[in-house]
Amino acid sequence: MTTLPASTTNKRLDGKVAIITGGASGIGASTAKHFWKNGAKVIIADIQDNLGQKLVQEFYSNNIVYFHCDVSKEEDVRDLVDYTISKYGRLDIMYNNAGVMDRLGGSILDSTREDVDRVLRVNLYGSFFGAKHAARVMVPQKQGCILFTCSVCTLIAGIATHPYTMSKHAILGMAKNLSAELKQYGIRVNCISPSGVFSGMAPGLSGASGVLMADDVARAALYLASDDANFVNGHNLVLDGGSSAKNFSMALAFN
Ligand SMILES: NC(=O)c1ccc[n+]([C@@H]2O[C@H](COP(=O)([O-])OP(=O)(O)OC[C@H]3O[C@@H](n4cnc5c(N)ncnc54)[C@H](O)[C@@H]3O)[C@@H](O)[C@H]2O)c1
Repeated sequence: MTTLPASTTNKRLDGKVAIITGGASGIGASTAKHFWKNGAKVIIADIQDNLGQKLVQEFYSNNIVYFHCDVSKEEDVRDLVDYTISKYGRLDIMYNNAGVMDRLGGSILDSTREDVDRVLRVNLYGSFFGAKHAARVMVPQKQGCILFTCSVCTLIAGIATHPYTMSKHAILGMAKNLSAELKQYGIRVNCISPSGVFSGMAPGLSGASGVLMADDVARAALYLASDDANFVNGHNLVLDGGSSAKNFSMALAFN
């Protein structure tokens, strides 16, 4: 019989240092709780200062702090990573989760250059700056994990506006490319693609049954950030209960 090595801790991120952007609410806030409970030192980065500070105070812990950071500004992201290194000495997990939706109304005829700029500045450029500055400190460490929140709109058409869909596809492409480049330094890069999550961004889902919760996404992030996902790299982990796997038009035809 094989004897499994006894685990010294059941905290899956023991001693790791994690940044979570968009960590003041929704998926980011849930992930902050899971990471912290699993032994990580967590830096919540957001622009909602009151919400972020309030969240951090609930923990009564030196191992979770709030840092103001507008991810669309490279200097803010640079300062966030530098602050993390000065406070905790390293960065193991960079979760690029901050995101915005654009205004409702999905036709290309209604979409403006300003809509595209606004969404890309936060979702795409914010993710790019996060990856770049995380890599700056992870490459010399020869270890790290970079995560992005994408969306199931990277698999299914017609469920989000064009600027939002463009931003999430671009993040997925960037993540795959990063995974190829950064593997040599022991850095894993992965995406999480949820369907509609009951959160600040999609409060209208609250009444529906069987809806994906922010907590479900947080547990997926915990898995990808942990050593359990040691060999998972360049992956898009879809959390949609299998809905993107189903061909609804075939099901209708058979009925
Ligand atoms: N809610 C959904 O249905 C859903 C589905 C798929 C993917 N997502 C993605 O999940 C991520 C988290 O969204 P959520 O559902 O938790 O929504 P949320 O609105 O609760 O959280 C988003 C957070 O990002 C922060 N943020 C916005 N702009 C920022 C900026 N410039 N700099 C720093 N922080 C900024 C917000 O203040 C907020 O705290 C987003 O990337 C979103 O696109 C959400």
